[in-house]
Amino acid sequence: MSESMGAWRRSSLCGDVTEDMIGQEMTLMGWCHRQRDFGGVLFLTLRDIAGEVQIVVDGDSPEDVREKAKTVRGEYVIACRGLLRRRAAINPQMKTGLVELHAQELRILSVAETPPIYIEENIDVNESVRLKYRYLDLRRPDMQRNLLARHQITRITRRFFDEEGFIDVETPTLIKSTPEGARDYLVPSRVFPGKFFALPQSPQLFKQLLMLAGYNKYMQIARCYRDEDLRADRQPEFTQVDIEMAFVGEDDVLAVNERYLATLMREFKGIEVELPMKRMTWREAMNRYGTDKPDLRYGMELIDLSDLVAGGSFKVFADAVEAGGMVAAIAVPGGSDLSRRELDSLATFVRGNTDAKGLAWLSLNDGVSRGSVAKFYDANFVHEAFKRAGEDEMAQLLIVADSDKMVVLETLGVLRIEMAKRRNLIPDDRFEFCWVTEFPLLEWSDEAGRFVAKHHPFTAPMDEDIHMLDTNPSEVRARAYDIVLNGTELGGGSIRIHQQELQARMFKILGFTKEEAERQFGFLMSAFRYGVPPHGGLAYGLDRIVMLLLGAESIREVIAFPKVQNSSCLMTEAPDVVAEHQLKELGLVIASDL
Ligand code: AMO
Ligand code: AMP
Repeated sequence: MSESMGAWRRSSLCGDVTEDMIGQEMTLMGWCHRQRDFGGVLFLTLRDIAGEVQIVVDGDSPEDVREKAKTVRGEYVIACRGLLRRRAAINPQMKTGLVELHAQELRILSVAETPPIYIEENIDVNESVRLKYRYLDLRRPDMQRNLLARHQITRITRRFFDEEGFIDVETPTLIKSTPEGARDYLVPSRVFPGKFFALPQSPQLFKQLLMLAGYNKYMQIARCYRDEDLRADRQPEFTQVDIEMAFVGEDDVLAVNERYLATLMREFKGIEVELPMKRMTWREAMNRYGTDKPDLRYGMELIDLSDLVAGGSFKVFADAVEAGGMVAAIAVPGGSDLSRRELDSLATFVRGNTDAKGLAWLSLNDGVSRGSVAKFYDANFVHEAFKRAGEDEMAQLLIVADSDKMVVLETLGVLRIEMAKRRNLIPDDRFEFCWVTEFPLLEWSDEAGRFVAKHHPFTAPMDEDIHMLDTNPSEVRARAYDIVLNGTELGGGSIRIHQQELQARMFKILGFTKEEAERQFGFLMSAFRYGVPPHGGLAYGLDRIVMLLLGAESIREVIAFPKVQNSSCLMTEAPDVVAEHQLKELGLVIASDL
């Protein structure tokens, strides 16, 4: 049934056929997108990565071609030879709509069953079906565009860092497991039964060692692995644009990265980004936006009302302030039209999605205070709050109180995003970058019962805070920075610790005994004895960059073969069991009662 291509070779990609080629004998090959048989004349639409072109089979085509064309179905791979001619009826919707190939010879290179999904743009199919048949899904023009865009972005990235003098070095992906950070993927060793490699969560230590080895500026487009819970912007294996620089401080790292992002925006999106980019400390981001990844495309900044409610008659609010907490709010523009039902649903949303214990609301109705706490707060209070928020009297205040300030800020941060979505306040054509700096160095972990590094254990504390490392660790700020785009963390990095003693002190604060630190990070500690330049760097999530620049809903849309929520691959059905002899070779037994 299927024929060979023989000596035939393509004259052009289907979508690249142009008006200038009219009159030429051409050989085109591709997938049959559609076959329409009108009796006397039959049309085949041929498709490849460049687009579609029409083939006509009519009374002037040889008899065998006419017969063969009748048997062609969707997704058959065919080759056709003929004369390119001007179409009688042009199709303005099609890139090649001025021309058609008049068939003289036809070969069916491969037949196809009816595919389980349409090879069309914007199909409305369950994602699990798309992922099971990913090779067909990837045939769709929107997926092809996404992967081509990803290719362009990597190309711009490589060229930019190359021109800036960065050296691309590959680092290993079978490495030593280190306990900090997310869960590791482990690979059992055959040669050392009972021992394991880990897949890298990032090239962090290797890139630092490259700085120590004198490579000055490093970059790598590196595959990373993290066994963590998946979300729309997280995959168990993902790609970082990873960089590191020697003899630098924050401003140097930020400057080169701003140039990179500006280049990317200019060359890929045709958008000029204003430099330098905004910078905000972590504290400011939390106070104003209730998150460390603020979306600056819209307002609704948080306002502190603690001073206004302190000592007041509503005990819930007064007590929160009294206990060292806070009462704060957002003012939803034009939100006075929110119905009681909508407000109740917001209160339910808050209870379901945050640690806050309640939500109160206030607005003005004919100049009179109205809302869940109106009996405690009059119109003057509401006016003052609106003034602080820069809103008029058509706004709606959503208020949260808690004895823990972070609970209030984070709740309002979540609520701010939710309200922006519900009320369509997010412009989707804007790209707002900002750096968030001065993150806390450490974070208390109830689970571990100790401090853990907020970024990683190699991040340097700010010089002026080092004196608090032992006495007040939670107040120590890090020389860390994140780059945020439209409310998503694109990347993050830091200036590293390059002093042996400080690194040892850091491991101690993180609860490592000297022996543990030696066992886990001995190679790093000994390397640090041989001359370390001050250094720092950053890593971007490449998948996230592509997702945001394309406006895609999830990073799965920009990864060729992604995994699903439970970290499995629906197409290959990995992970899977392995043969008994493979386990034996590795010295592994499966504890079947687990
Ligand atoms: P970090 O852990 O912040 O830093 O990671 C850097 C960036 O990688 C992306 N990213 C992910 N993307 C998709 N799926 C995931 N599961 C995932 N996890 C992280 C994010 C993130 O901003 N070695 C340090 C960087 C440094 O200090 O230089 C690091 O890995 O976009
Ligand atoms: P009550 O007097 O208990 O009916 O509470 C009046 C309003 O205050 C209700 O809308 C409650 O949801 C709200 N409220 C209670 N606790 C809090 C809180 N921690 N933060 C914000 N509002 C709250």
